[in-house]
Amino acid sequence: MSLKNLSVEPLDANKITAIIATQNQVYLSNLEIFSTIDSTNQYLLEKKSNCPSGWACFAEQQTQGRGRRGRSWFSPPGANIYFSLLWRFAKTVHDVSGLSVAIGVIVTQVLQKYGIEEHIQLKWPNDILIKGRKLAGILLEKRGDAIVMGIGINLSLPKPIEPARIDIAEMTQQPVARNYLAGLLLNELLANIPLYQTEGLTPFISVWQQHDYLAGKKVTVHLPDKIINGTMCGITATGELLLQDEENVEQRFSYGEVSVRC
Ligand code: BTN
Repeated sequence: MSLKNLSVEPLDANKITAIIATQNQVYLSNLEIFSTIDSTNQYLLEKKSNCPSGWACFAEQQTQGRGRRGRSWFSPPGANIYFSLLWRFAKTVHDVSGLSVAIGVIVTQVLQKYGIEEHIQLKWPNDILIKGRKLAGILLEKRGDAIVMGIGINLSLPKPIEPARIDIAEMTQQPVARNYLAGLLLNELLANIPLYQTEGLTPFISVWQQHDYLAGKKVTVHLPDKIINGTMCGITATGELLLQDEENVEQRFSYGEVSVRC
């Protein structure tokens, strides 16, 4: 189906770059827009040996959009934001769990700047929820010194929307200004990833705490070889999940899937 039939605003590189502040433009090496692609993350991972840090791409549609833990990511044409950014971190930056928390915070700030008034919830490591329904997801994939940060944001999903998902159109009851939102996203990433590079997670922690969906909840942490029940106690200064288990022992996790127990 063509975008014209869907009557959505097509993504436009000029409109997106016009929103990027001058001081942030230095970090952007290239911006590409695809009408269709298998996966924006896959594209940058394949390209990684010949593209410099700060290479960004958006797509109108993904045919093999992927999510965390081997899941697929629903990527119909013109409905959403499908975005990836390749970054090369200095060798001293190894801490991807902290980066994924920082990006969750950055996306939250983008949504607030766009005008989303509902309380945004951050579910560790980086699901973005509204009223417990998923609005956006983040997939980080690391190869050597390159990290590809993939972000999907639901803008106006085909109806009916699955109950577990939510989109921006449902909240604003207006057509989504896609280029404005895409420009805000790129601008905030270009401003804040260098900040993460120099200062780590410290500047992002307090915003995470204000939006922490899991804080104080009884949860199950699913690891590849076991599951652990406990009560969530927030995150550490480096982005690990903190849990008090059923024997009252504090445990930390840098990976795993968390589900809330009723
Ligand atoms: C999740 O499971 O929550 C992560 C979803 C990440 C989806 C985005 S869309 C752009 C980028 N390309 C992909 O194939 N996946 C990410």
